[in-house]
Amino acid sequence: MFDALKSHHATIADRRFADMLDAARAADFSATLGDMRFDYSKTNIDADGRALLIDLLDARGVADRRDAMFGGQAINETEGRAVLHTALRNLGGAPVMVDGQDVMPDVLATLDRMADFASRVRDGSYTGQGGAITDVINIGIGGSDLGPAMAARALQPYHDGPRCHFVSNVDPADIAQTLAVCDPATTLVIVASKTFTTIETMTNAQTARDWMSASVSDTGAQFAALSTAADKTADFGIAPERVFGFADWVGGRYSMWGPIGLSLMIAIGPDNFRAFLRGGQAMDDHFRTAPWDQNLPALLALTGIWHNQICGYATRAVLPYDNNLARLPAYLQQLEMESNGKGVSMDGADLPYHSGPVVWGEPGTNGQHAFYQLIHQGTRVIPCEFMVAARGHDDGLHHQHRLLVANCLAQSEALMMGRDLDTARGKVADKFDGAELDRQARHRVFPGNRPSTTLIYPKLTPAVLGQIVALYEHRVFVEGVVLGINSYDQWGVELGKELATSLQPVVEGQASADDKDGSTAALVAALQAQGL
Ligand code: F6P
Repeated sequence: MFDALKSHHATIADRRFADMLDAARAADFSATLGDMRFDYSKTNIDADGRALLIDLLDARGVADRRDAMFGGQAINETEGRAVLHTALRNLGGAPVMVDGQDVMPDVLATLDRMADFASRVRDGSYTGQGGAITDVINIGIGGSDLGPAMAARALQPYHDGPRCHFVSNVDPADIAQTLAVCDPATTLVIVASKTFTTIETMTNAQTARDWMSASVSDTGAQFAALSTAADKTADFGIAPERVFGFADWVGGRYSMWGPIGLSLMIAIGPDNFRAFLRGGQAMDDHFRTAPWDQNLPALLALTGIWHNQICGYATRAVLPYDNNLARLPAYLQQLEMESNGKGVSMDGADLPYHSGPVVWGEPGTNGQHAFYQLIHQGTRVIPCEFMVAARGHDDGLHHQHRLLVANCLAQSEALMMGRDLDTARGKVADKFDGAELDRQARHRVFPGNRPSTTLIYPKLTPAVLGQIVALYEHRVFVEGVVLGINSYDQWGVELGKELATSLQPVVEGQASADDKDGSTAALVAALQAQGL
């Protein structure tokens, strides 16, 4: 499938793309949505390469598949489900049909119910036993945690509601440290779980309920649930008026746009939450209508395919020069790796090429003083995805923001330009000579020609965050369709869950470790000897 692209790559692999980079290329290899601009000119993709990549989109039927997704067809074929997180941000309410039924009236009614509840929590008319709610604890994991936790962190400047806490890990340290700073009489606990069976979430929810019941008479009144499983939320004792449901066509890692975003809505208010949805919807409209060579999600996906499947770079770094996006890399790890980390194609055949890449990152400039050494001089090439705003939220400190921007742009420039041996010699010629000069200079050489993309935007508002998240969602979709995999299941998490269940009685000392492998049995024994 990638033959033409690989042949093209072989002919240009040694070319230094800095030599191609003039103002015309910078304009040609950029695309915009309003003020958001995606620049992929600092890569080795040229006009021929781009044409071949776009051919791939046509050959793999990406447009038809995209329309099938927006149209409510069951493109999650292994689970027989539609994929319609886009309906959650379809604020205009244009009909979206699933199995002959328009889902939009329910979606919009639930959004209104969320807004009403969030407003009452925020204005103090919904109270706990001790009065107005001071703290909200979202208990969830994976997609029921990472989305709202990332967005609440990203939109911290808009946070004017009660304090929000996110508990995900079954490690008791997580819940214990959160409960320790909350007052049970003024805390709302939101149990966020699509299935309402996830062991970590249900264990933490029970712990929170036990904590609250020591001093609150009606704990159920201070719990809300976000789930597709109304029967299970009722069994847990949460009244229907505080249960916010959604359908199985919302995948966990795509769910922050609906009820799973309730904690975010309480933090920033319904109006800001709707602005976030509108940002996502603007990216949807762009994805559906812009030609491929101007289409941000398609171009972001194609740079991903180029770097991973064609150039063979196994990882990519997401490097937001925006401290409020500190949790974005973790969020994208689930979005991208749980979606496109698959070993078989839709029909069950082994993938004849690599699946999606390892995704990792940290906000700049912190990463510069940690792992950028390897990105600049290590032996592996790591494509970098930079992002930066024109302005921060602290106008009085704009000089500091400019320093941040300078650092971001300097990194992509340094990765591209590198530093050759002669220049490196010049840097230390006053200190060394002869063989020592050569040796010292070689340590100061940067190979350069290392690719990066840069996403810029005016400011990290709720709408811009919505655009960024939807951009990456659709990027994952396009890469998944090109690779021929199902981006919407996650069978790869099942085996570990099953084995944890069978190991639980073993670590509790209720069952023998004899049928376990030697290593696992020895580790259990050693932990038990240390007080497990
Ligand atoms: O184990 C993986 C996973 O199913 C994710 O896809 C999901 O986001 C997470 O667990 C949490 O699931 P739930 O919302 O059902 O608790």
